[in-house]
Formats: sequence, C-alpha cells, structure tokens
Amino acid sequence: MEIELRVNGALRRVEADPMARLLDVLRVGLGLTGTKEGCGEGECGACTVILDGELACACLVPACQAAGAAVTTIEGVAFAERLHPLQAHFAADGGAQCGICTPGMIVAARHCLDRNRSPTRTQVREAVAGNLCRCTGYQRIVDAVVAAALDPKAQP
Ligand code: FES
Ligand code: FES
Repeated sequence: MEIELRVNGALRRVEADPMARLLDVLRVGLGLTGTKEGCGEGECGACTVILDGELACACLVPACQAAGAAVTTIEGVAFAERLHPLQAHFAADGGAQCGICTPGMIVAARHCLDRNRSPTRTQVREAVAGNLCRCTGYQRIVDAVVAAALDPKAQP
C-alpha cells in the first residue's frame, strides 16, 4: 500500500507493506538512516522517534498505524543551517560515544525540551529513561541535555 506521512515537516509518500515496521519505512523506504535499530523489540530506545507528538519506538509501530501521522526523526532535530544545541553538546560534552543510542537519545531529549525549557537533572533522566546506553554511564548525557537547555541557541 502507499503510505503518506509527514516526516520532519515534509509530506512523504512511500510504498510499504502495511505491517512493515516504521523503522524500516524510515530507513529503507525513505533513506533516513539516522534512526537506529538496537534490540528490535521495544526495549532499548535506539529507534525512538516522535510520532504525533509522543515518543515511540519505530521498531514496534506498523506502517499502517503510522499512515497520516507526523514523524520527527533525528534528521529533523537540527535547524536548517546549524545543529540543534542538543547535537552540539552531545558531541562536545561526551554524551555520544559509540553512537548507537545517540539519535534516539537526542530525539527523546528534544521531546523533553520542547515541553520544558528548564528541566532538572531528574527530569532529564526521566525523559530519557526509555533509552539505554551501554557506553556513557548517562552522566554525560544528562550534562549535555542540561547544557543544551541553557544554551540560547536552543531557539530556532
Ligand atoms: Fe526499537 Fe530497540 S530497536 S526499542
Ligand atoms: Fe554507545 Fe550510548 S554511546 S550505547
């Protein structure tokens, strides 16, 4: 079936099996390979996207369920001409190491900052609680999100 989605603000149409995973629609159908696959079972958060305003694991969402939805992937987090401060601080402050968790982590953090411009460290930890990281110990991830929240460039 042809599926129509609004991806990172642009209307996209793609042929997909109705039960194909949104993860594969994004990565294979649309070439948006920033969204990563970790567990493929809804446990790790590597595939996190924002689906109609809510965080979702793209590995668990069938294409037919995503039809007509608005999806934000890591490719939609940056501003037109520059990185979002979350991306800049993850890179500069050690929030990204191997990088597998990083796109999903940043999407979850962006969802948090869109709702709360001044999150506490506890609120940041809660916001990324569904995203597992094997490398960083989370401290530097929280540091990066808090620094990005304070960064005046966080506004478009
Ligand atoms: Fe989707 Fe792990 S790949 S939650
Ligand atoms: Fe490697 Fe998080 S940076 S899993």
